[in-house]
Amino acid sequence: MTRTIEQILGKRAIAAVRKPLETAGGLPGAAYTGQEFFDLEQTTLFPRTWMGVGFESDIPKPGDAMPIMVGKLPVILVRNKAGEIKAFHNVCRHRASMVVMEPQKGLNFLTCPYHAWAWDLDGGLKAMPYFDGTKNSRNTDLDKCKLGLAPVRCAVWHHWIFVNLDGKAPPIEQHMKPFADLIKGADIGATRISKRLDWEFDANWKFQNDNWETYHHAWVHGGIFNKMSEDLDMKTGEPWTESLQDGSFVTLKARKGRPARPNTGRKGDVATPLPEIPQAPCAERTLSTSILFPNVTITMMDNYIATVISDPIAPDRTVARLAFYFVGGAAKSKKYAAGRKQVLDRWLGKSRSSTGRDGIRSQDFGIWEAQQIARQSPVADDVVFSPVWESNIHHFQNQVLDTMQG
Ligand code: FES
Repeated sequence: MTRTIEQILGKRAIAAVRKPLETAGGLPGAAYTGQEFFDLEQTTLFPRTWMGVGFESDIPKPGDAMPIMVGKLPVILVRNKAGEIKAFHNVCRHRASMVVMEPQKGLNFLTCPYHAWAWDLDGGLKAMPYFDGTKNSRNTDLDKCKLGLAPVRCAVWHHWIFVNLDGKAPPIEQHMKPFADLIKGADIGATRISKRLDWEFDANWKFQNDNWETYHHAWVHGGIFNKMSEDLDMKTGEPWTESLQDGSFVTLKARKGRPARPNTGRKGDVATPLPEIPQAPCAERTLSTSILFPNVTITMMDNYIATVISDPIAPDRTVARLAFYFVGGAAKSKKYAAGRKQVLDRWLGKSRSSTGRDGIRSQDFGIWEAQQIARQSPVADDVVFSPVWESNIHHFQNQVLDTMQG
């Protein structure tokens, strides 16, 4: 029998997370290590949210399709003839094979590999050859209109593809509004994909969100953020970033006066600085790094965007789907190669390796993997939050509970 979240985590542990930040405890280890909790997320967390599932550049042309997993459910993303991105359950309506097994390009139909039933790119059934013994199956009484691929609610917001499996989440515009308000009209549409890669790490997907503080920078990100004074105003004891929460959104927003960070392809770093993302007239630029609950992070700097979609594949295994965007021709042209390299070195390390521990991402993976191991200890059920740095983490862990108990 499926146990509830209260039965898995215990009422005392849940009550601890629900306390005010200053006295709260964190989610216990079972939320990170247990198969039972991971299974419960499949039914009570992921389907109720706008899950980030891909980048529109993954299927750039009509007829491009790719299979994905949303939690444990197989889904097809496809760009139809009109150029719109659609999502369907990747389940054949005959006898339930997966229809799309690997990324495809230039399709006219989605054809099941088992008995060749075929659907157009909007999910309408077009062929069920020899089902009734005739080539076009004209003699069957089955109603083809009822055998379309089952749609999944899908939305594209700029570069990012989201699905909402239960169809009940608020409209995507509402989901994205806090982020849209934060960036104050910065023209994301002016940016182009430059680098796209998938890296895996041996830890639970929630550690990415638990990392949305700058307290760890000076220790985890050696060689990138070197001194505490880069993240803390040593005069006031306040971090240089504000932690903000608004519904399904948390962010770290740079405060005025924050020390400039080198090696980001800016003026003075490289001979040809990266062009800035156009800003709305008179709007002050906001540098920020945000999470759209549950699994999309968007870091918005003045001259690039770095994003990660976390794909939870097991309690202790996650795929980080990474994408980097620069303005217009700066995404690909030789002229801006030095600036791009500085940004990518910073995030991916010069090694460009998920285990290299020389870039922000792989350094984070290392600490999340250490947490994954430590979280198996009963001692790890008792954790506390810094009121100065970790309000985002407290908010996120309450979002998890809100969603799963909702
Ligand atoms: S299972 Fe797909 S056509 Fe038979």
